[in-house]
Amino acid sequence: MQLLDGKQLAKTIRAELAEEVRKMTEAGKRAPHLAAVLVGDDPASQVYVRNKVRSCEKVGFQSSLIRKSADVSEEELLQIVQQLNEDDAVDGFIVQLPLPGHIDEEKVTLAIDSKKDVDGFHPANFGRMAQGLPCYLPATPSGVLEMMRRYDIDTEGKEVVVLGRSNIVGTPMSILLSRKAKPGNATVTLCHSRTKNLQEHIRRADILVAAIGIPEFVTADMVRDGAVVIDVGINRVDAPEREKGYRLCGDVDFEGVKDKVAMITPVPGGVGQLTVVSLLMNTLKAARGEVYGKE
Ligand code: GUN
Repeated sequence: MQLLDGKQLAKTIRAELAEEVRKMTEAGKRAPHLAAVLVGDDPASQVYVRNKVRSCEKVGFQSSLIRKSADVSEEELLQIVQQLNEDDAVDGFIVQLPLPGHIDEEKVTLAIDSKKDVDGFHPANFGRMAQGLPCYLPATPSGVLEMMRRYDIDTEGKEVVVLGRSNIVGTPMSILLSRKAKPGNATVTLCHSRTKNLQEHIRRADILVAAIGIPEFVTADMVRDGAVVIDVGINRVDAPEREKGYRLCGDVDFEGVKDKVAMITPVPGGVGQLTVVSLLMNTLKAARGEVYGKE
């Protein structure tokens, strides 16, 4: 079994990004600039946003964090989005989700200029992705593709099973892997909560992408010998013996499955490490005008 080491890969890509920043600044350009808007004090969101800002620092990007309390009005948040849309010193920005219940997430997502939508959540970017046009790819599927590319995982003609149909992981993943591209060109089955005979589908998979958010759902008996297993899940489960009181695990029973498969991502240290790096890659694309051109 080969371990797909997201941590090491993220380190390699960060070094490449840092080198790009060095070249840009040497040529007299400013470093790419990512802004993040964080509303309220949801602990998981705080950790995610902190990681994004920290990763910017690691590669020499500029970053800005705009924090607002949970009672910020939708109107004020939309104004902030508008300011960021118009700010030429910001290449790309994200509004961390989830937002408090009184704010319409869809309205906020639609207000973000698709040219600065480095999360790839705007329908304009999603549509471009589905048609194979230049776009900002959503971070997690983009991280999975990068892992497949760099570990030379052959997807052509393979049976891929994606577990989960979320807008930001399962659905875009299924589209990307079925397109005529590399990685891609696979036969993709998208499984979800209403799928009949789920285990039979999983057992057919040459490549399994698990993104259902159920701790250790996929067990050894479900997985085909020699399969490639990409575990996107990051679940917190109680672990009273640990200082924090919890441990992180994926959607796959790693210990049970690892000796049966050809390749597998660990959790933590797998795909999760690449999602932030994908956001940085999108921000570099934005700074260079690679998707929509430079005005
Ligand atoms: N919440 C969980 N994941 C994400 C993400 O990738 N982007 C944003 N904006 N919010 C999130």
